[in-house]
Amino acid sequence: MLTLTNLHVSYDGSRILRDVSLTLARGEVVCLMGRNGVGKTTTLKAITGLVGVDSGDITLDDVQLSGLKTDARARAGLGYVPQGRDIFPNLTVWENLRIGAIAQKRKLNGEVDRVLELFPVLKEMLQRKGGVLSGGQQQQLAIARALLTAPKVLLLDEPTEGIQPNIIDQIGETIKTLRSDGFQAEPTAREIGDAIQKLRREGQIGILLVEQYLDFCLAVGDRFYIMDRGAIVASGPIAELGEKLVKEHLTV
Ligand SMILES: Nc1ncnc2c1ncn2[C@@H]1O[C@H](COP(=O)(O)OP(=O)(O)OP(=O)(O)O)[C@@H](O)[C@H]1O
Ligand SMILES: [Mg+2]
Repeated sequence: MLTLTNLHVSYDGSRILRDVSLTLARGEVVCLMGRNGVGKTTTLKAITGLVGVDSGDITLDDVQLSGLKTDARARAGLGYVPQGRDIFPNLTVWENLRIGAIAQKRKLNGEVDRVLELFPVLKEMLQRKGGVLSGGQQQQLAIARALLTAPKVLLLDEPTEGIQPNIIDQIGETIKTLRSDGFQAEPTAREIGDAIQKLRREGQIGILLVEQYLDFCLAVGDRFYIMDRGAIVASGPIAELGEKLVKEHLTV
């Protein structure tokens, strides 16, 4: 559904992304992983049009996104939740949810209720100001709001950042226990993970998840891509994300 082909991106003349190709199908959760500064966020910004590309193609279904402005790409079906907590702190949760649809002049017949099913915590907090929610709750609100624009593809940039204490310390063990015992996440990360898994089961949208939190990727992902210094250096089904790759490209 979403296809990136041989993308090259530069900032101020220095190459940041080199020959990045990636695919995402409907119903799939694809994890884009890599250490700090390797180009994950830049990849998402290139997809949304927030940064220009030197060369390469980006298509969503049959639409060539590369020539379109950011808002036209959103209308073509991209939902984007940037890194950090991108909500309006002085608006209520309810107002935060409605604002995307208002901007698109769409009616939200029942859709708010449907999205709140994914994030039950928010349902209790509709009249609170966004700014008083916890970091993880704000992240849920940002994802919920993006879903209300009815995207075909949801781009999530490190939804667990700041929720989960850093990541990949005891990896060998983690991979083993995870595969046997399931996902032992901190509760808020788990709520976000549950929502992603529900969306995946519904099978209507594709999710491109930028994430450094390995357990989270292993729990919710179908496939992975690993970036290092602006290039994709490994990819495959999530079951093939083993210790060797993790040590080589993900541990700090
Ligand atoms: N606006 C910009 N101007 C110049 N260089 C930038 C700009 N934004 C990012 N960069 C550089 O591009 C590289 C990739 O940055 P990017 O934000 O894509 O990394 P990332 O993989 O998302 O990292 P993190 O995990 O820390 O979020 C980094 O070296 C960064 O310093
Ligand atoms: Mg980033």
